[in-house]
Amino acid sequence: MSELVDEKRVLIVGLGLIGGSLAAALRADKTSGDAEAETATLPGRVNIVACDADPDEVAQGIAMGLIDGGDVRLSHALLDGVSMIVLAVPVMAMRGVLHALAPLLESASPELVITDVGSTKSTMVNDAVAVFGAVPNNMVLGHPIAGSEKSGVAAATANLFERHKVILTPNEHTDPQAIARVMALWQAAGADVLEMDVSHHDQVLARTSHLPHFLAFSLVDTLARQDDRLDIFRYAAGGFRDFTRIAGSDPVMWRDVFMANQEALLDALSDFEAGIARLRQAVEQRDGDAMLVTLGRARHARHYFDSLLNQSSYQAEYTMQQQGRLRYRVSPGGNVQGRIRVPGDKSISHRSIMFGALAEGITQISGFLEGEDSLATLQAFREMGVAIEGPDKGRVSVHGVGLNGLKMPPGPIYVGNSGTAMRLFAGLLAGQRFDSELTGDASLTARPMERVADPLRQMGAVIDTAEGGRPPLTIHGGASLKGIHYDMPMASAQVKSCLLFAGLYAEGETRVREPAPTRDHTERMLNGFGYRVERDGDTCWLEGGGKLTAAPIDVPSDISSATFFLVAAAITPGSDLTLEHVGINPTRIGVITILQAMGADLRLLNERNVGGEPVADLHIRYAPLKGIDIPVDQVPLAIDEFPALFVAAANAEGITRLRGAEELRVKESDRLQAMANGFDVLGIQYRLLDDGIDIVGYDKGHALAECQYGGGRVDSLGDHRIAMSFAVAALRASDDILIDDCANVATSFPGFIELARHVGMHLEQEAE
Ligand code: S3P
Repeated sequence: MSELVDEKRVLIVGLGLIGGSLAAALRADKTSGDAEAETATLPGRVNIVACDADPDEVAQGIAMGLIDGGDVRLSHALLDGVSMIVLAVPVMAMRGVLHALAPLLESASPELVITDVGSTKSTMVNDAVAVFGAVPNNMVLGHPIAGSEKSGVAAATANLFERHKVILTPNEHTDPQAIARVMALWQAAGADVLEMDVSHHDQVLARTSHLPHFLAFSLVDTLARQDDRLDIFRYAAGGFRDFTRIAGSDPVMWRDVFMANQEALLDALSDFEAGIARLRQAVEQRDGDAMLVTLGRARHARHYFDSLLNQSSYQAEYTMQQQGRLRYRVSPGGNVQGRIRVPGDKSISHRSIMFGALAEGITQISGFLEGEDSLATLQAFREMGVAIEGPDKGRVSVHGVGLNGLKMPPGPIYVGNSGTAMRLFAGLLAGQRFDSELTGDASLTARPMERVADPLRQMGAVIDTAEGGRPPLTIHGGASLKGIHYDMPMASAQVKSCLLFAGLYAEGETRVREPAPTRDHTERMLNGFGYRVERDGDTCWLEGGGKLTAAPIDVPSDISSATFFLVAAAITPGSDLTLEHVGINPTRIGVITILQAMGADLRLLNERNVGGEPVADLHIRYAPLKGIDIPVDQVPLAIDEFPALFVAAANAEGITRLRGAEELRVKESDRLQAMANGFDVLGIQYRLLDDGIDIVGYDKGHALAECQYGGGRVDSLGDHRIAMSFAVAALRASDDILIDDCANVATSFPGFIELARHVGMHLEQEAE
């Protein structure tokens, strides 16, 4: 990384914690030399000098081996040969430093670049304008988001910036070379560097850093001035200590920051005061639901934004997952054994929150899938004012607000990776009085939304899609909806459910005809909540204007998640596995029918009905599979299971043929193509068609070979089901399979890795 750091000599003005830690980081950097073993004259080692008004700081820096020399004053001698100046003095001292620096710059090297570490940027711009008339093109303003309650160079550590953000705020005149060099400097210190404009930076920092410091200082001071302060501090533990840790920071520095970023801080404070007033009122009025709305939303937001918006997180606690890209390494061999329970059904989990929120009364949910997508749905309702307790080990309580009780969310609703959430929300939001916007991740942004926007418009909804009928969706509230009779051009439970949601708000009857049966969780749940949905053959309908009454929901395990283990057992001799409490809704069991038709030894035990959905324990033992022509009527009933079924086909005798499955091309990825690409790597033979695939297993009359195909590196294209399918494929590969871009497994199957290992698969995760 730091071969990029090509500075002749770096001058740090203001040694302190930040300047000293930068010096330490550059010293510790392997490619620029080891501070203890080498001297300043060795090639490749950056020469670092410092200027600090405190001679003790300079002496300490030299004694610690962080700097090669320094002075208490800026001078021509100190600037001699310097290619980079890092201004690390407190923000209120910056102008004075620039004044002192200006006359010396005339004789400076033409390559000189100046940067700073100040935590407010508008003041820095003002200072530069005051001294130089404008921000010089070789000045790149920057701000490392790192610190500690300690101050002074003695506290400097080489890893202070590691995995922290450094925000640069160049303008359109800033020299790109200068930006690149400052970037290289921080990257050498282990930081992630990003760019922002000055005012955005100051707003963001006011909210995420300056306001919390302000509050911590103020709270500690308020309590410290009370008569019983000794008692208060004697018994202060966990929460108080966590909350007020930052009140131990440097008062002079924070006074400067509050002065420098006055305007943005006061804006942030006003928002905060409004929030405090709302919560205060809830407490005064003993309004438990209102308190829960705020507390629940906050608790959830903390986890949610950390994990979902990790790219813009300013937190230091990075996990591999939060780094975005994850790779699986799955080694061949073994078989699968035991009794397991996979997480809750994704389709039912989304709907349980949606209907619970729109119902009257409290809906108690158990078995809720705590995956990123269903959590995003939960968060969306919190943002629309619904009080939700949990999730806590799959238990959630939703305090329904009734069909017309949702509030306008404060911003766009982010539904992550979930097509189901976006399409169902579209129907639900089309009936609201307020405007809303639906956004999602990169994969979702490529998926077709016209299939719901078009019929919703026929009902009277006002909806804009982005180019090509893609997300984001903008939904204009206040439209009056009318029921329609819609003949679906594709067999889609999402489209059907979307229209039924809108139908709740429509005048008259909303009828949907499906070309083939699709999952019916929406209809079942509506009936369970006391809302009549009728069906005659291929058409279902409801009448708008009714009401939903809360009812308990027990979410069964997701048959789509169970599928990966069913296929794992079906393709590995010696396997014997039981999957407990799996949903076997007749509109979801295509995978069971298909695997049984291929010869799998798969039995349903202990069949029962749980809260309106049938469940069973699935017992599977290895038996040789044979290729089949998959009946077209099974396609919608196994739509999410095909990637895994393709792996079963590659381990079956003869050819398996799939047709009528063009919908696979518009899932989280083009699943036909994604699997075909992986098959190319592993050496599995196939023939790809627009609406299906032929997959070649082993030759007739032969037995399943120990290794059916090779290993290699495949790309999941960020699609959770592609990732898990290739993980299962590794059981019969001759070599490791590396699977790129697996972080999205967490959208539908949190804990997949642990469970896969538990049953006997050899799966490791690594950062890409
Ligand atoms: C789902 C319906 C299916 C399925 C998706 C979940 C649902 O999509 O692929 O994973 O919960 O309604 P389509 O309805 O678009 O086929």
